[in-house]
Amino acid sequence: MWEKNDIREILISENEIQERAKQLGEQITKDYSSKKPLLVGLLRGSVPFLADLMKNIDLDIQFDTMDVSSYEGTESVGEIRILKDLDTPIKGLDIILVEDIVDTGRTLQTVKNTLLHRGAASVTICTLLNKSARRTVDIQADYIGFEVADEFVVGYGMDFNQKYRCLPYIGVLNAECMVNICISG
Ligand code: IMP
Ligand code: MG
Repeated sequence: MWEKNDIREILISENEIQERAKQLGEQITKDYSSKKPLLVGLLRGSVPFLADLMKNIDLDIQFDTMDVSSYEGTESVGEIRILKDLDTPIKGLDIILVEDIVDTGRTLQTVKNTLLHRGAASVTICTLLNKSARRTVDIQADYIGFEVADEFVVGYGMDFNQKYRCLPYIGVLNAECMVNICISG
């Protein structure tokens, strides 16, 4: 069955996302007016938003990507594994981390600290969605597309078991879909 039938409700439409990406791009253009920031997208969820955002930043920017995953089966809070590192030397650069959603905040807190430790001049965070109700660490995004409630969302880069990333909108899954996919692995 095609994934679209699994969506209970469309929360944010494609047009709304693109309009917000335009506003955020304009704000970043103003804030970084004399700078050449490096956008760093976290794979894979940030890809559609990163693409929309960068088109709306009127500056001499470059972008790179990182892939990180939380350690599983350990109690160490905030520890992440780098699956794909940056290709760009970042010493002295102004970095804008681009993310699909900030949930507990552990991923971004760790990545931000890592990049600052490597000598980045500054690191700010631009996230499409902010789920602030679930935050467990003290980190705030500098640029936020939309606040969302504490429910699991998919689409526009975000997945459930690697599905639904390519949907052009952000939606909420039917509860039975999450159960079915979990059982079938
Ligand atoms: P954090 O380290 O808890 O902030 O985790 C952030 C990551 O968890 C995001 O980049 C997503 O990959 C994933 N995530 C958190 N909430 C959702 C959601 O509602 N849908 C899809 N992925 C989510
Ligand atoms: Mg992610």
